[in-house]
Amino acid sequence: MTEAVRGLYERNRQQGVAPWCGLAYDFVCPSMGTYPFQWFWDSCFHAIVLAHFDRERARQEIRSLLAHAQPDGFVGHVTFWQRERFEALLATYSIAYRTPYLSDCIQPPVLAEAVSAAAEGPGGDAFLAEVLPRVRRYYEWLDANRDPDRDGLIATLQPDESGLDHTPKYDAYLGIARPDHAEFTAAWQRVAGPYAAVGREQAAMFALDRFIVEDVLVNTIYAENARVLAGLLRRAGEDEAAAAWERRARATAAALVEKCYDASAGLFWDLAGAREAPLRVNTVSSLMPILLPDLPREPVEAIVAHLRDPEEYAAAYPVPSVAMNEPAYLEPRADSSLVYRGPTWMNTNWYLSRGLRRHGHLELARRIEEASAAVVEREGFREYYDPRTGEGFGARDFSWSGLALDMLARLEGDDP
Ligand code: GLC
Repeated sequence: MTEAVRGLYERNRQQGVAPWCGLAYDFVCPSMGTYPFQWFWDSCFHAIVLAHFDRERARQEIRSLLAHAQPDGFVGHVTFWQRERFEALLATYSIAYRTPYLSDCIQPPVLAEAVSAAAEGPGGDAFLAEVLPRVRRYYEWLDANRDPDRDGLIATLQPDESGLDHTPKYDAYLGIARPDHAEFTAAWQRVAGPYAAVGREQAAMFALDRFIVEDVLVNTIYAENARVLAGLLRRAGEDEAAAAWERRARATAAALVEKCYDASAGLFWDLAGAREAPLRVNTVSSLMPILLPDLPREPVEAIVAHLRDPEEYAAAYPVPSVAMNEPAYLEPRADSSLVYRGPTWMNTNWYLSRGLRRHGHLELARRIEEASAAVVEREGFREYYDPRTGEGFGARDFSWSGLALDMLARLEGDDP
């Protein structure tokens, strides 16, 4: 697996000097076919995988990701380093641009976890000292700009900010009746149009109340990364900032339980709009809080029961991105580019199996890790997989499916 991932990360490596900014870049793109640019959470996963066999490249990946961190802390979800070479592809994307080379939205904040992996080993302290101020500013930006109601939960302002672009959990809120690409483009434009009219200023976008989602997956990752960030700050001797981020991590985790958990369903729901209406669609996102080390026993066991249920998530190749008995569940199709409507993805498997280990559910964790590694070995690094047959779909040579390597390492070490 290490050799296979090494080869993949060589093929998808993008290196050069960008004429538009004069800076050198070195990163792994998600897939040469459809995604040749640098995506935020993909890149964080790539750094975590690279840390297994080439720590220097893991650090380079993060340096490239942070090269265009804005003075206020914001880091966009795509950097179009080599835009000119792939101009034709851009016509197929629906992206909000800050500049022609930077997008103007966020993705799930996996950054602290990636920095933590890259900062292990020799030279780690120097690397940490180099990047930590920008990492911290990025999370301060999220806290200052994306939690205006101060409940500890940050909000996404457009669907692709969750990284789960076409997830059915937003269908009703977006007014999607028949899920196809044209409907999604139209629905996204109904959000993006008014945003453009207010200059995409953060508070003004909130005031419009067009798409405000306190997303369970995003906030689980935020809580986890707030905790990891606190650890990085402690390591750097910044105790006061560390204590503040520990408090935020706890506040976000507590808010997820208090505001998003539905005890009768045993699931966590996103909250939509200024009214915070729960989006009651059973997707993998609803299970993500199992990652949180301080999640109370009751929701942990409820999530485990959903994961064990063959009607919902216990597929031959777990974990489907939508419960298989949800009306919105869709089998993957070669002619569809809609994502997160049913198939199994390696990034959510990576998080869920880690959460299961944390709460002592080793057997179920191993089952997910083993099935993940097996399907990647059989089908190659695909974007997503059919939960029933394991067949690979979507982009080929898809880099974050290299997370199978990290899951195999866990299996070998059996390290909870
Ligand atoms: C799709 C996914 C998003 C990912 C991107 C690049 O847009 O929904 O999560 O970051 O592709 O892989």
